[in-house]
Amino acid sequence: MEIKSATFVISSPKVDLCPKTEMPEYAFIGRSNVGKSSLINMLTGQKNLAKTSNTPGKTQLINHFLINKEFYIVDLPGYGFAKVSQNTRNVWEKMIENYLKERTNLITVFVLIDSRHEPQNIDLEFLRKLGEWEIPFNVIFTKADKSTQRDAARNAKMFIEAMKKEWEFIPRSFMTSSVKFLGRKDILGYIEELNTEYAEAIKEGKS
Ligand code: GTP
Ligand code: MG
Repeated sequence: MEIKSATFVISSPKVDLCPKTEMPEYAFIGRSNVGKSSLINMLTGQKNLAKTSNTPGKTQLINHFLINKEFYIVDLPGYGFAKVSQNTRNVWEKMIENYLKERTNLITVFVLIDSRHEPQNIDLEFLRKLGEWEIPFNVIFTKADKSTQRDAARNAKMFIEAMKKEWEFIPRSFMTSSVKFLGRKDILGYIEELNTEYAEAIKEGKS
């Protein structure tokens, strides 16, 4: 897929205030600092579209970006960020939960996992919640440039193995580096496939 346009639309503190639309939508989530905003910039080819930072907890709202006037990409706050108060964490978690459960045009959630680490409980727990809420997801391993290819691949494999203990169906996953533009073509191609399926389903529903 070619990115012809990518624009920031709105930051929303809750799902009711998100854009009213029937366009397909893809959300990016994962631990604080895992590289969600950087990945969105890499995919759209715009360095400063989503705000990134060395300090975890940068993204605090539901951020909508309109791509090719055809679909939305959503940048969400990270989970598991220890340095904010319990109260703030609860507010973020509830905001994310409501968004995921209530957003009817959400096609899939890309869950980002840091490829430098062995499987972490916090990530597996988050996937369990998605399962409970029946939300479709895919896994994206990030920061592949930060370790050897072998280590990144090994950690990714271990994560998939951990998932297999709990899940019958393992969704498609991607290895990425926002610095090296690794994984861009595959993820954009995948989104394009899902957009086409969604358009066909809508057409059938209306005829
Ligand atoms: P929050 O919004 O705080 O939850 O973080 P985030 O998940 O959006 O992470 P962000 O994209 O802001 O990136 C966090 C840090 O990791 C920044 O310093 C990025 O430059 C760095 N980073 C992100 N992706 C990559 C990558 O693929 N390779 C390398 N080397 N650094 C990365
Ligand atoms: Mg961010």
